[in-house]
Amino acid sequence: MKVRRAIIPAAGLGTRFLPATKALPKEMLPIVNKPTIQFIVEEAKASGIEDILIVTGKNKRAIENHFDSNPELEQDLEKTGKSGLLKLTQEITDLGVNLYYTRQPYPAGLGDAVYRARSFVAGEPFVIMLGDDLMKDKVPLAKQLINDYDKTHASTIAVMKVPHKEVSKYGVIAPDGNIAPDLYNVKNFVEKPAVDKAPSDLAIIGRYLLTPEIFDILEHQKSGRGGEIQLTDAIDTMNKTQRVFAHVFKGERFDVGNKEGYLETSIQYGLIHPETRDALRKYIKELGKKL
Ligand code: UTP
Repeated sequence: MKVRRAIIPAAGLGTRFLPATKALPKEMLPIVNKPTIQFIVEEAKASGIEDILIVTGKNKRAIENHFDSNPELEQDLEKTGKSGLLKLTQEITDLGVNLYYTRQPYPAGLGDAVYRARSFVAGEPFVIMLGDDLMKDKVPLAKQLINDYDKTHASTIAVMKVPHKEVSKYGVIAPDGNIAPDLYNVKNFVEKPAVDKAPSDLAIIGRYLLTPEIFDILEHQKSGRGGEIQLTDAIDTMNKTQRVFAHVFKGERFDVGNKEGYLETSIQYGLIHPETRDALRKYIKELGKKL
């Protein structure tokens, strides 16, 4: 079956960016001039996804507005001859994917957010894409997972090696031999293990391809770590009855879900962006002399 649908959970509170996220969705924080969620939608589109469900919640209206057209602004840009900006603005409404929205009434955890997509997914395999991670590679990571699925017809979770002392921030896998260079069988999936108890340094990063049976498990999933309904726990349960593989991502990952990673990513992207790269490079060189 072709993988056509993606879910972007975006109903979290974004507490690591308070007070900025008190009224503004974390997913709308820009990297240079593009909100992080737009990068995710573009990755989905580049991966062949046709329908995207964004799970939103309280204070998340700006996400819907961002992907709508803004005729007043567009007229103004046209009148004032700002054709470059007009193109940038219109591109967002013309992405060539269908966007749908649903709300999570309370941020009860990622597992609960994903469960809200049950009827949208309608019994098909689907992708989950988290806005906390921006990925760069020749083939988009969501597409890499879809390519795996086309061969295995099984769920596959993206993982990446992280520094050992950081494993407690992630879901971590216990690998159990590989069936291809980058594709592992998994013994267990553990959410945020203590550093000395982590089964490996392979952490779950923000892309998942799941078969729809996950919803039968999420329906009865009890809250786990932090009192939240954890997607990792449901995946671990599913792995007992059907294969769930781990795909080791070899590209670049930018963690924009915390302050330090967000600033680093902004610098990295600023050094590529044609309008900022020269001035920023000069500024960083000058700054380096003073530090
Ligand atoms: P995070 O834990 O990274 O996001 O969840 P958060 O809760 O918004 O941020 P912090 O930790 O308080 O700073 C990963 C993704 O899952 C979504 C978030 O929006 C984020 O994109 N999420 C999380 C939900 O949609 N609902 C939830 O109940 C929890």
